[in-house]
Amino acid sequence: MIIIRKFQPIDFQWVIDIERRVFNEHDPYLYMQFYENYPETFIVAEINGFIVGYVAGFQAVEGVGRIFSLAVHPLYQRRRIGSSLLNEIIHLFKEMHLDEIILEVRWGNIRAKKFYERHGFFQYEIAEKYYNDAENARLMKLRLS
Ligand SMILES: CC(C)(COP(=O)(O)OP(=O)(O)OC[C@H]1O[C@@H](n2cnc3c(N)ncnc32)[C@H](O)[C@@H]1OP(=O)(O)O)[C@@H](O)C(=O)NCCC(=O)NCCS
Repeated sequence: MIIIRKFQPIDFQWVIDIERRVFNEHDPYLYMQFYENYPETFIVAEINGFIVGYVAGFQAVEGVGRIFSLAVHPLYQRRRIGSSLLNEIIHLFKEMHLDEIILEVRWGNIRAKKFYERHGFFQYEIAEKYYNDAENARLMKLRLS
């Protein structure tokens, strides 16, 4: 059974382990800072006591929620865990009365692009050489109102 709940400091090592497995660039310290600043919108997915995915979001400016990071452990992908996490953060941002959600995805990450499109996001801009290795970012948006 999957439990979607708020991140707790005890989850930290799990989150960092997932982040290392799925992203090229990582910064563990960001996640503790994230928890200190935005505990309400840092969510994890737990199965049998294991953390298998997380989503970290925050209110960027007035009316706008931003998804900072969303990831599912490679062994647990394609089981709707990513969708459950995304639906939860969308729900939380709606409760905060935000108008839209933005995020960025690496240009080559077609799977994530399709994943977000299936949830109603669309590309509204390209940020050139956004990442450290100069890959472009696809800026995507979901309208909530
Ligand atoms: C993007 C990501 C979060 C999606 O998580 P996920 O748990 O695999 O997502 P879901 O299971 O809800 O849906 C993903 C896919 O599984 C498929 N799927 C889910 N359950 C399924 C089932 N029971 N049978 C068949 N297909 C299924 C979905 O159609 C979807 O298709 P896709 O492979 O073309 O994307 C995950 O792939 C990931 O962590 N990627 C690396 C990090 C990343 O890119 N993050 C996004 C940028 S911030």
